[in-house]
Amino acid sequence: MRKFIVAGNWKMNTTVPEGVELAKAVVEKSKKLPANVELVVAPPFTHLYPVADVLKGSKVALSAQNCADHEKGAYTGEVAVNMLTSLGCQYTILGHSERRQYYGETDEKLVVKTQLALAAGLKVILCVGENLEEREAGKHFDVVTAQTKNVLYNFTAEDMKNVVIAYEPVWAIGTGKTATAAQAEEIHACIRNVIAEKFGAQVADDMTILYGGSCKPSNAKELFAEKDIDGGLIGGAALKADDFLAIALSF
Ligand code: 13P
Repeated sequence: MRKFIVAGNWKMNTTVPEGVELAKAVVEKSKKLPANVELVVAPPFTHLYPVADVLKGSKVALSAQNCADHEKGAYTGEVAVNMLTSLGCQYTILGHSERRQYYGETDEKLVVKTQLALAAGLKVILCVGENLEEREAGKHFDVVTAQTKNVLYNFTAEDMKNVVIAYEPVWAIGTGKTATAAQAEEIHACIRNVIAEKFGAQVADDMTILYGGSCKPSNAKELFAEKDIDGGLIGGAALKADDFLAIALSF
């Protein structure tokens, strides 16, 4: 059964008290949500512990935005997967384009991080997506196919039960320029085929594939109406509980 998910990536925004207030507002409003839609929030590392407390007993799941590529040890400034699970994190985002672009995150590193996360019992939201230059050169299908294969083809069909894919075209992130529903749908269908080729039709059919990039209440309905778009990974609009919930109510 395919799950619908709306996940909020807070990126490097809000202080801890502001984040706690935002989480409280999300929990309060999430009570109206239908049972088949899962809400996830991904605050900065510093916020995870107090936000976990706010989410206790609610339907809202907690995600990190990244994890270390080592289990433990002398890696100053890094956060290990068991630190995340020990405070109640259920997910981690991996391979966000901002991490690929600014912090040298490679597909090879993402394989290691995905291995560690899955082994620790974390679900992975793996981000893929082409930049503007790649889209203008007509390479978007190739880029997204390669990113998906390079990481996920190292895993098993069983592992795929704990993987969500987020298609985030880099040119649509934070720019106000959303991919049209048709543009997003054709990439989502391509990603589902890539999954089907390796893991079979059932695994592909069950895979949740999110769209991210200037998704907001005004365009969510059209995007989510597509048959291969199973929710969203939301940046800016996730910082306002009303907007975030309005997106979640767009199925
Ligand atoms: P925006 O919704 O701000 O475009 O960000 C999308 C994103 O990068 C979510 O991970």
